[in-house]
Amino acid sequence: MDALITLLPGDGIGPEVTKSGRSILDTIGKEFGHNFSFSEQHIGGSGIDHCNDPLPSNTISSCNESNAVILGAVGGPKWDNPNAKIRPEQGLLGLRAALKVFANIRPVQIIPSLSNASPLKNHLLKDVDLLVIRELTGGIYFGEKKRNKSSASDLCIYHDYEVERIIRVAAKLAKTRKNKLCSVDKANVLETSRLWRDITTKTMSSEFPDTAIEHILVDAAAMYLINRPADFDVIVTENMFGDILTDEASMLSGSMGMLPSASLGESSVGLYEPIHGSAPDIAGKGIANPCGMIGSVALLLRHSLNLNEEADLLEQAIYDAIEGGARTADIATNNENILSTDEMTNVIINRLKK
Ligand SMILES: NC(=O)c1ccc[n+]([C@@H]2O[C@H](COP(=O)([O-])OP(=O)(O)OC[C@H]3O[C@@H](n4cnc5c(N)ncnc54)[C@H](O)[C@@H]3O)[C@@H](O)[C@H]2O)c1
Repeated sequence: MDALITLLPGDGIGPEVTKSGRSILDTIGKEFGHNFSFSEQHIGGSGIDHCNDPLPSNTISSCNESNAVILGAVGGPKWDNPNAKIRPEQGLLGLRAALKVFANIRPVQIIPSLSNASPLKNHLLKDVDLLVIRELTGGIYFGEKKRNKSSASDLCIYHDYEVERIIRVAAKLAKTRKNKLCSVDKANVLETSRLWRDITTKTMSSEFPDTAIEHILVDAAAMYLINRPADFDVIVTENMFGDILTDEASMLSGSMGMLPSASLGESSVGLYEPIHGSAPDIAGKGIANPCGMIGSVALLLRHSLNLNEEADLLEQAIYDAIEGGARTADIATNNENILSTDEMTNVIINRLKK
């Protein structure tokens, strides 16, 4: 197959892990006879530095012409002035809106030999295999923001159609797994959550009557993710709750550096990025864990290119590399040999070669 992929390395460790993602795609292309071509563009702080714009117009047009988009990370202390009119994060939020990707899919699986890298006790991690679906384009992050001398407000707004479409995505994914959906809200306090719960209940009973649905308040969900994470199958929630819960869930897997994500909308042009940020504390050292990015490439192969065999093989290669003892610094717990970003990528590449 031929596919054009836009690469948005961004800032901090973004370029380091994006390079890994590209090498993996080059290998998959060679091994399976696909022709992947790439268009590299600026976003975030790199967009501000090169084009005075966190989301340059060339970036948007390249993404729209591509089959899929890979993003490293945006942000960092260099652009951290809270009073600045243009900020790196605007690039990411603007890109999600431009691509109309409203469903962020974050799988959390535990690789057994990494259970010691997690702060949780080993017995709690047994059988953890969950999927968090986070609504991406609504809620408090996008509502009107106001500030005067002594107060500030952020409007949280959700429309019925936004809830309906994300519940459909989550329920369809639940059907391919254990068919158990957990919707997380704060319906005891927030009006937006009461709308969320009403629409969820209606959509599930009319369209997915055979899928089990439970509603959990976000504070309780934060607790259950720690004390009974294996009970979850698919979790669906609104933008800010999903942002927070997925960072919490990342600790089940041992490191932020392990987790991939896919952001999908109505079209097949998906946005694929590891869940971590630009990690300024380790940027430029060549030690970032590339597994979150490489797992995101597997999601790209599956969801945007329909290459399920290649996606499965890549996920198996990550699993086997880790089970075989490969460790970057963030997931090392004993006196293992610590690999650089490139070395870890090569271990995975070697497992892909036929
Ligand atoms: N999607 C994004 O682009 C995104 C997401 C979150 C944060 N950010 C931005 O990133 C910057 C730093 O944010 P932060 O420090 O809160 O979060 P972060 O995810 O960048 O880092 C948190 C911690 O995890 C470590 N870490 C993250 N990814 C790693 C990897 N691949 N390998 C090894 N260790 C890894 C870091 O070294 C750091 O100690 C901020 O400017 C923030 O706005 C961007």
